[in-house]
Formats: sequence, structure tokens, C-alpha cells
Amino acid sequence: MPRKIAVLAGDGIGPEVIHEAVKVLQATGLSFEFEEALVGGAAYDDGGHPLPASTLDLCRRSDAVLLGAVGGPKWDQVQPPELRPEVGALLPLRSELNLYANVRPVKTLTPMLKESPLKGSRGKVDLVVMRELTGGIYFAKPRERRNDGNTAVDTCIYHRHEVERIARRAFQIARLRRHEIVSVDKANVLETSRLWREVVTELSVQHPDVKVTHMLVDNCAMQLIREPGQFDVILTENMFGDILSDEASVLTGSLGMLPSASLSDEKDGKVFGLYEPVHGSAPDIAGQGRANPIAAILSAAMMLRYSFDETDVAARIESAVEHALEAGLRTADVFTKGTKLVSTTELGDAIAFKVKAAA
Ligand code: IPM
Ligand code: MG
Repeated sequence: MPRKIAVLAGDGIGPEVIHEAVKVLQATGLSFEFEEALVGGAAYDDGGHPLPASTLDLCRRSDAVLLGAVGGPKWDQVQPPELRPEVGALLPLRSELNLYANVRPVKTLTPMLKESPLKGSRGKVDLVVMRELTGGIYFAKPRERRNDGNTAVDTCIYHRHEVERIARRAFQIARLRRHEIVSVDKANVLETSRLWREVVTELSVQHPDVKVTHMLVDNCAMQLIREPGQFDVILTENMFGDILSDEASVLTGSLGMLPSASLSDEKDGKVFGLYEPVHGSAPDIAGQGRANPIAAILSAAMMLRYSFDETDVAARIESAVEHALEAGLRTADVFTKGTKLVSTTELGDAIAFKVKAAA
């Protein structure tokens, strides 16, 4: 049986970069069945909802989901707000598919080191943000306007089991890396953070080979700039992870190259996941062949690693990406003097060619 991949290209540059990711997956020689469906603004325009039931159903029938990006100014004013792409498609996809573990590796690719806003080797980063993705202030109720619109309420709730399952995932990932976790919270103020810290501390006793430290989120934001090299795995709750992962990603100087995985529970040794670039839909450059396909391509590599257990093939894709960058190929977002400006498709072709040749 070929592995079934739901392809949700979405809006803006989503379709362009996903096209390249599919091309690279095809170049691996592995057998896949791809099925496409609409999501985000494209789905809203088509049928009035950013996450049609048929799209969700396709995801449920698939072994993994490859997502481009959703949203854009065209849909920012859609009423009610629940029908906007971010809130109406992205968040329900996460909760309906139980994608509670968001893995965001932030790694400076050697050819890109001089693009970091931090000078010299201080800018070298190799960390993973493990962000809880289906709990906390993004989802808890009540969330509403009160007093004729003059008061607004959001609620942050965490249950012990939610902290436990993401922390277990972080320990697994730390064991594949440098065995260090920094758990980030705001335990000096928030009750949810005190529970978070308590649970992570309990679990650390069961994982004596992993060094666990706790850091307050404001300090972490500062340490990421001061000395990013100190971090291996950053484990944190939903909103802190949202903010810290953007901060960390810009340290690589190339937002267009960062992949992510959102994982559910393991079932019969298989992990269901949704894989997507960290960047957004970038409507300003959509359709011009200027988008960087590397984040989407590396997301496909993460899919092979986490959902399909194809570590070697994933590594082949990753090294094909490094090879293309070493050869000086650059899309517009990271083009500098002395490198060669190529289009989205040209970069995808070069990477796919290398992946095929190495098969
Ligand atoms: C992200 C994005 C989303 C989030 C938005 C688009 C809802 O910023 O994936 O980090 O906040 O989770
Ligand atoms: Mg974000």
C-alpha cells in the first residue's frame, strides 16, 4: 500500500512551495498517493468555509498531511472571525486531528551563517522548539466580549495529561539530540506554569540521562539573543512557543527555510502528523516564482522521518538542500551578491535532481 498524503496547498505562496515539496518526494523513488484538497481562503472562496468537512475527512483518511500556508489580507475582514483562515482552518485542524506536539527545528544551515542578525559564530543555532499546540489560551473557554464589548476575556487552562504528553515527546526528541531540555514557563506569575513546572520536574526523574532546567519566558526571550547556542530542546506551552519560535527562527536569517511538524499520538508504531513550513502565505510575492521552497521541502523530509520512518531518505533530502545552497543557489528572499538568483521552481528542480541522483 502506498502511503497516502493529504496535500493542502492553501493560499498565497502555499501552492508554489508545496508543488516543489511534492516534486522532491516523488524524486525519492518511494511510493506515495497524493490527494489534494482546499483549505484556508481558497476553500472559503470556493464553498464558504475555510475548513470544509471533506478536507478534514481527507486528512483523517491519510497517513500524513502536507500543508502550505493559509490566510491573507483578502480574508482578514471576513465575518464572523471564526470563518477566517487562521481561526477557522488552522486551529480546528490542530485540535480535530489532535496535533498536540509542534516540533520546530531551528538550525542555521552552514552556507547561511552570514545571514544571521547575530555576528559570527554566535549566530549559529541548532535547537528545537517543542510547542504544546492544542491547549492553553488558544483554546480554553470562556473567550468572549462582555459589557457591551468593553471587556474581553481569554482563558488559559492546562490539564496534567496535556503537559505530560508534550513533555514525553520532548524527552524522546532530546534523547536523539544533545540530551538537554529547557522548559520555559512563567511560574513566578501563572498557576498553569506552576503545574507545567511540577509535571516536567516529575518526568525528569524518569529521564535521568536528560538534563532539565527551567527558565522564565522573559529570560528565555533574552537568552535566545544573548547566547542561542545554549539551547538544545525548548519545551513550552502554546502561546510562549508561538512567540519564541518566531524569535528563534529569525536567528537563522532565513525564515523561508524552516520546517515544522505537528504530531499526534503514536498508533501501532506510526505517528500521524501535519507538516508545514513555518512561514506564512506571503501574499505580496505569491505567483511570482520568488518564494523559497526550502521550508516546504524540509517539512516533507520531516514527514519521512517522523511519520514514515524513512530516516535515510529524509537525510538525503536535507543534504540535497545544503548542497544547493553551497552551490550558491538562492531565491529572492536570501539572495546576496555573489550568489545565483533562481526561481522557486529552479531551486526545487535542483534539489529534486540531487535527491534522485543520490537514490
Ligand atoms: C503559527 C502561527 C499561528 C499560531 C497563527 C497563524 C494562528 O502564528 O503557527 O505559529 O499562532 O499558532
Ligand atoms: Mg506563530
